Formats: sequence, structure tokens, C-alpha cells
Amino acid sequence: MTRHFLKDTDLSPAELVEVLDLAQAMKADPYAFKPLAGPQTVAIIFDKTSTRTRVSFAAGVAALGGNPLIINPGESQLGHKESIEDSAQVFSRMVSAMVWRTYEQSGLERMAASGSVPVINALSDDYHPCQLLADLLTIREHRGNDSASGVAGLTLSYYGDGANNMAHSYALAGVNAGMHVRIAAPTGHQPAASVVAEAQELARVTGGSLMITDDPVAAAQDADVLVTDTWVSMGQDHAGRDDEDSPFTKYQVTEELMALGHEPIFLHCLPAYRGKEVAAEVIDGPASVVFDEAENRLHAQKALLAWLVERA
Ligand code: CP
Ligand code: NVA
Repeated sequence: MTRHFLKDTDLSPAELVEVLDLAQAMKADPYAFKPLAGPQTVAIIFDKTSTRTRVSFAAGVAALGGNPLIINPGESQLGHKESIEDSAQVFSRMVSAMVWRTYEQSGLERMAASGSVPVINALSDDYHPCQLLADLLTIREHRGNDSASGVAGLTLSYYGDGANNMAHSYALAGVNAGMHVRIAAPTGHQPAASVVAEAQELARVTGGSLMITDDPVAAAQDADVLVTDTWVSMGQDHAGRDDEDSPFTKYQVTEELMALGHEPIFLHCLPAYRGKEVAAEVIDGPASVVFDEAENRLHAQKALLAWLVERA
């Protein structure tokens, strides 16, 4: 059966380890793996803008011996002149995998249900699972331990909009890898109940945990990783989210919060807004590994593509 990666938990804990291990091997020998030789084409479709996702998938598909077909917002019939279902069947006749950055998670689910090749979520309103593969790889590299995932037992504290795609993916992917995930977010901006329930269920299997709090100081205590994301996600209205009265202001990652952690590293999926969700001294300081994290999009997604195509 064709496998897809629409959300973080589409990989089991053991499969997540396989993908991370393969990503490390690919990073060590970047041009040694050619599962897309032919070249096979991978469609990489954007309904929202992108730098990292666009470049990393294009470079990654090429490095795997394949041909990346980038489709920018508005360039295809998908979604306006043609249904997701018909588009999925057309793409499936010509490409080996589809990578799609879009709005609604249900669109990705419909694409996967109607096509016959792997579909990868390159960011939706609900999740950003490819980013989390890169983040887990980065944590492994900088704070890794002897556990199977390399990160189990570590504590990751996320600050800011707890209801956005990144927060949801940290909750699911972090717990999937056996981490203790803390989400520090204001009331009204905390993760969806369905995501909390899924992460807590998964925690029983992996030994990880999920804590939701509105207390930024409590969340930082002894944390190994501090992470944040923009207060305004693509497609959201700025109003009230990033002005002086923003509910997120007290969740800015500062040097004071970093000092409460256990020699923490700082992660951010980027693009970042200095002086908003993170102090410049933190993101530009010695604990920041955000550009390793950005590079790891390339290695992690190559591994994911190879893993999925092998099973298609
Ligand atoms: N982190 C991330 O997905 O970046 P882009 O929006 O530039 O792809
Ligand atoms: N939450 C952000 C992530 C960008 C990579 C957004 O959706 O815009």
C-alpha cells in the first residue's frame, strides 16, 4: 500500500528512527543514493510561498537522481479549475511522488486518497512534519543521546502560538521520538484538543510526554531545546497578533529564558522576526543552531523521499 507523510504520526516511532538514520547516512555521503534514477519526477506544488522547502526539495530530488518539478502558486489548474481528485490521478500517471504546501489538511488527505503515489505535506495550516524531521535530526546532532531516536528523554519547550502548524508538529513528532514536549502559549492559542489527545496517547507508547502551560518561565526550567515560530502564520490575519498588545509578547524567547534551561540549544524553522518571537541576541547567539536546522531540511527530506518511494 502506498505510504504518505501527511502528518508527523504517519511514521511510527520505529519508522521515524529509520528515516532519521537514513538522513544521517545521506548527509555523510550526499550523492551516493540514487533511488530516483531515471530520472523520476517529483512534483513539488506550492499554494503558499517558500524558500527552504522549495530549495531543499528541489536540491534533494536532484541529488537523489531525480527531476524536481516546481509548481508555484497559481501555475496549475489544481484547486481552481480542476478538482483535487482529478489532479491526483493525472499527477500519479507522470510522477513518482507529490510534495504539496497548501492550506487545508483535508486537501492533502483527498490528494492521498485519490492518487497512487506518495503524498508529502510540505506545510499545511495544521502541521509541518518535514520541518520536524529536520529539527529532530538537528537535536540529535547537537544534543543526541544513546536512545533509539537519539533524542528520547530530552525536553523541548516551544513558545508562542501553540495552535499553529509548528506547535502541533512539535507535540506529535517530539512525543513520537520519546521527547518531553512543553508548549508555552497564551490561553486561546493552545494546541487543538485532538492533537493533545493523540500526543498523550502516543506518550504512553514512547515514554515521552506533553505539557501545555501559559507560564513561559515554568516551561524553560531545565529544557534542552527552546524553540519558537512566527506569531503570524501564512494565511492568518496580522490583526492583534504582532502589535504592542500581542498576547504572545511574554512568550518571546529571551536570554533570560535560555538561562533557565539545561545548556539549551535554540531552534526556529525560519523565517524569523527578531524582536518579536525571539530576541536577536538569542537567534544570533552561540546557542542558536537555526542554520544547521535549515540545512537539515535537505538531508531529512531526501531520506523521507527515498523511504516512501521504496515502499510505493
Ligand atoms: N521553514 C520553512 O518551511 O521555510 P520556508 O517557508 O521558507 O519553506
Ligand atoms: N507557522 C509558519 C511556519 C512557516 C515555515 C507558517 O505557517 O507560516
